[in-house]
Amino acid sequence: GGSLHPRSGGFSFEGPFGTFDQGQLQRGYKVYREVCAACHSMDMLHFRNLGEKGGPFYDPQAENPAQNRFVRALAAEIEVPDIDTETGETIRRPATPADKFPNPYPNRTAASAANGGAAPPDLSVMAKARHNGADYIYSLLSGYSAPPAGLRMTATQHYNPYMSGDMTPFWDGDPEHVPPGGFIAMPAPLAAGQVTYDDGTEATVDQMSKDVAAFIAWASEPKAVERKQAGIGVLAFLAIFAGITYLSYRRIWKGVA
Ligand code: HEM
Repeated sequence: GGSLHPRSGGFSFEGPFGTFDQGQLQRGYKVYREVCAACHSMDMLHFRNLGEKGGPFYDPQAENPAQNRFVRALAAEIEVPDIDTETGETIRRPATPADKFPNPYPNRTAASAANGGAAPPDLSVMAKARHNGADYIYSLLSGYSAPPAGLRMTATQHYNPYMSGDMTPFWDGDPEHVPPGGFIAMPAPLAAGQVTYDDGTEATVDQMSKDVAAFIAWASEPKAVERKQAGIGVLAFLAIFAGITYLSYRRIWKGVA
């Protein structure tokens, strides 16, 4: 049993001083939008979030994300359902920054039916929902490999060594060498060159996996950098305060035997 420990994505946002790489977040949004959004919702995101401070398309010229021209243009590329206020009919119209990311399926039943019985989970907080979230997502997406000979599987299953599971019951080979990982209903979603990056970065499977993992990490905790910076401020304050306390202690007790 067990699965492979995730490989490190070498992310810029790790560690106490880490920050998101805005170019990477922009590339990650593109991967989400053009690949993952066909099956996965990100229910907690609104288009305006993309233009918020620290976000992929934050523009200091447009502090109000509703005025951010990148965000407006990106939203307008996507259609969202709405109700025509005059006729009461359901219509589709281009999104605005105020809209939520639309769902790919009308409901969970439709989502499972379209995916061999397993509904694609919402990705809004996926980097928090899984241990080592960003590294895990990166490893899972870039880690598909041919199933080892001796593994019995069905047509809707895919093998991934990073997926949790236990292959023992499906393994006909040497019981001492049960392959790591599990079955996953998601087919390998990425192939080289699947998106065209606007910044000219080569769209390898490894690169796209990293970029979309970074995007999901940002979506899962958009205030991570602000939180860390506040923490560093608090520590700096405490350090200075400790110094002042020590000096005043020395002064008060000066000459006392
Ligand atoms: C599951 C990410 C594209 C269908 C998942 C999981 C993640 C993920 C993190 C959860 C795995 C776990 O449970 O630990 C992504 C990303 C994508 C992408 C980042 C884009 C690069 C797709 C596409 C489809 C799809 C295009 C549909 C064709 C599914 C399904 C599951 C799943 C059905 C549930 C698998 C199961 O529980 O066995 N995906 N996915 N995904 N995804 Fe995707």
